[in-house]
Amino acid sequence: MINEERLWEHLESLSTIGKQETGGITRLSFSEEERQAKDLVSSWMKDAGLTVREDEVGNLIGRKEGLDPHLPVILVGSHIDSVYHGGNFDGPLGVLSGIEALQAMNEQGMETQHPIEVVAFTDEEGSRFSLGMIGSRGMAGTLTKEHLEQVDKNGISVAEAMSKSGLDPEEIQHARREKDSIKAYLELHIEQGKILESKNLSVGIVSGIAGPIWQKFIINGEAGHAGTTPMTMRRDPLTAASAIIQVINKEASKTGTTVGTVGQLELVPGGINVIPERVEFSLDLRDISEEVRDHVELEIATQAKSICEQYGVELIIEPLQRVAPAPCSDLVQTCTSAACDTLNIETMTLSSGAGHDGMQLTELCPIGMIFVRSKNGISHNPAEWSSMEDCKNGANVLCQTILNLDLQ
Ligand code: GLV
Ligand code: MN
Ligand code: MN
Repeated sequence: MINEERLWEHLESLSTIGKQETGGITRLSFSEEERQAKDLVSSWMKDAGLTVREDEVGNLIGRKEGLDPHLPVILVGSHIDSVYHGGNFDGPLGVLSGIEALQAMNEQGMETQHPIEVVAFTDEEGSRFSLGMIGSRGMAGTLTKEHLEQVDKNGISVAEAMSKSGLDPEEIQHARREKDSIKAYLELHIEQGKILESKNLSVGIVSGIAGPIWQKFIINGEAGHAGTTPMTMRRDPLTAASAIIQVINKEASKTGTTVGTVGQLELVPGGINVIPERVEFSLDLRDISEEVRDHVELEIATQAKSICEQYGVELIIEPLQRVAPAPCSDLVQTCTSAACDTLNIETMTLSSGAGHDGMQLTELCPIGMIFVRSKNGISHNPAEWSSMEDCKNGANVLCQTILNLDLQ
């Protein structure tokens, strides 16, 4: 059984790093805040009796040795970076529960055949570089030179940010794990939705993760004087953008499962009396079915093209990331279900709308996830909350699932 007070204390201490006066937590990858968070989490890993290292993409890893160190590792974890003004549970709960589970096992003298590693992945959220899951891509060996060239708001590339934080971007291939080296990857995470709450359940078993497409829409028009340019003589990219945003909403709503979001919008030059010259906005489009998602993507692109022709403006759609939906393995789901039975915790199966690092690891190993109830389904928001009781249940299910996986 895990120690819920210690888990809660760790969650609270970590929440002080990156805390914003205007609300929430901002802990971006390769930042000073992330460094501080890693140092603190690393000290807890050591307290838990784990051997700690950081790999070549900055993933922080704590290892509990197995009775047979040659067996593949059972990997558990999540992330400790955040979105801008995010909450305190998205990511940290999974990492800290993993450490807590291993500390509880060590304190109770519980040995496993397989080595177990808990990982805090580098940059799951993608908030800084519009590229998520950097650490897990590194572990899967799919982090490319192009990825490393993506830049943040200040024009700093992933490679530059890595170098500044003491990592060598030329060495990233050494973070790659071999195919048979991981028995399974298991992540505990808050649900970030309302399903568990509506069923009055504290814990859920994830069947699969919806895949996101991220794109940047750039629309070039012509800047002009707001007072002297007649409405019939404008090439206003924002008017086109607003029509496209309506299309995104309409097309995503049609399927019943797709979600489409425009979360960033920038006008250049951005003057009150100037018709914009350029508009840039982001698209985040997801579905648990790749086919349905890709169909909606095509619909949006086709209609956006015709809208831009109609308004006499130029449209460029830049790809930022494209991640396939990821099914969770039957093996992990079965072990989690058995863990819930052992602990007498009622549960259900549900899919994840949010993206998670496991999506990058599907070629490497079976993956699975445990969800913990979120209050009001709120996430990516300072009001994000899960109760101590639910966190305790989730961490105990995590611990028991690891033990079940060890016997497989
Ligand atoms: C991360 O939380 C994402 O799903 O974008
Ligand atoms: Mn997360
Ligand atoms: Mn998140």
